[in-house]
Amino acid sequence: MSPEEFRQAAYRHADWIAHYLENVREFPVMPGTQPGDVIAALPAAAPEKGESLEQIFEDFQSKIVPALTLWNHPRFFAWFSISSTPPSILAEFLVAAVNINAMLWKSSPAATELEQVTLGWLRQWLELPKEFFGIIYDTASVGVLQAICAAREWADPDSRIKGMRPGLTVYISEHTHSSSEKAAIALGFGQENVRKIPVDARFRMRLDLLKEAIEADLAVGRRPCCIVASIGSTSTAAIDPVPEIADIAERYNAWLHVDAAYGGPAAVVPEMRRILAGAERAHSLILNPHKWLYVSVDCSVLYTRFPDVLRRASSLSAEYLRTAEDERVTNYMDYGVQLGRRFRALKLWYVFRYYGRQGIVAMLRESLKQAQTLKSLIEADPEFEIAAPVELSLVCFRHRAGNELNQQLLREVNATGKAFLSHTVLNGNFVLRFAIGNFQTSESDVRESWALVRDTAGALVAEYAGDYDLRHRAS
Ligand SMILES: Cc1ncc(COP(=O)(O)O)c(C=O)c1O
Repeated sequence: MSPEEFRQAAYRHADWIAHYLENVREFPVMPGTQPGDVIAALPAAAPEKGESLEQIFEDFQSKIVPALTLWNHPRFFAWFSISSTPPSILAEFLVAAVNINAMLWKSSPAATELEQVTLGWLRQWLELPKEFFGIIYDTASVGVLQAICAAREWADPDSRIKGMRPGLTVYISEHTHSSSEKAAIALGFGQENVRKIPVDARFRMRLDLLKEAIEADLAVGRRPCCIVASIGSTSTAAIDPVPEIADIAERYNAWLHVDAAYGGPAAVVPEMRRILAGAERAHSLILNPHKWLYVSVDCSVLYTRFPDVLRRASSLSAEYLRTAEDERVTNYMDYGVQLGRRFRALKLWYVFRYYGRQGIVAMLRESLKQAQTLKSLIEADPEFEIAAPVELSLVCFRHRAGNELNQQLLREVNATGKAFLSHTVLNGNFVLRFAIGNFQTSESDVRESWALVRDTAGALVAEYAGDYDLRHRAS
């Protein structure tokens, strides 16, 4: 491709992106695609000869886009609502062009140092202690794997050489994201050695039961290795009592990992800083800029007070990777299983500089406010109830007519393509999750999507009046 051809193609792609971002509300949030539709629309074998960019781009628009679930849509309220903002998109473009590998300082000094600088800025915004060392991984799932690997190194320094000793135990809550349990499985703890501590009425880890579980384990010779606390759990955005959990971790000499993958970014808002109370005592903490900090997928940040432990757990260098600067620099490959690393810090740099702290705070505040508005609308409707405290930008609610109706309600709302919600189950109840956080979501998106939910429920109740009668309402 000649430079001029590239330039023209880039302009056309940029035009499409600008149009897409401006008109995304015209696209359905969720496609009506059936399994196999996309495969059937594409050739079974790769092309023998190269094809024109025009053709590829046209097929992208006609065959791929209609089968995308639009995560960057302002009415995407499922799982956790995320944003790929214009500065992040532009940074991704440049990342692909320079195509560096941020494994060593030498393999790209700017990438390593920009990672140090941007994570330092973020640490200041979050008012975390200076000694917190930061590293970017692709996802929180990989970050927690590294954190629990460090916890194992902390509890059992021989594990690296001899393999893990039996009895090392990990404590999570019933509502901790599955990535922590997966990490424990992958690291060889064994699922039997992961304790799922029950939660209280606000879906927070119960301290009395955590202590009880640890004492029971100690009594039979086990070693508490790691406790995972959540700030913004996945189902309900519950905030575990981190200061008290930190006391327990200290008392039993266990590693405290805080999963703030979704909730953490909210602490940039001054009046929300309180959600990170106790996090300064964590051994490690994760938050995901790709969830609620306006950076495109993927970008997850891990901070640790014990980079040496993380490094001991993960570093293994080969001769060909040694450089003259090793003693004076950070080589990020030493802090994880990954050697090759994308240049994700550029996205943080673009987003942080373009919006500034004030711009980011304003966007976060808007999502928090919209969640409270939605909560009030739901509370004002006697047919519905709020199912969990609204701590951040996630609203969990249900129609009072029972699980079957709520399941049908979710299917019907999502099938309209006008909004996309997800669900969870709380105390046996099927609950709808309305997660707010996209940078383009306006209050009218929230109000109109709520009206869609309410009207759809009204129609369902009328339609099935016989089936969904008061016997369900009483449940
Ligand atoms: C609280 C929490 N932790 C961890 C994760 C895993 O995140 P990732 O997709 O970055 O691995 C999620 C995903 O939704 C989450 O909600």
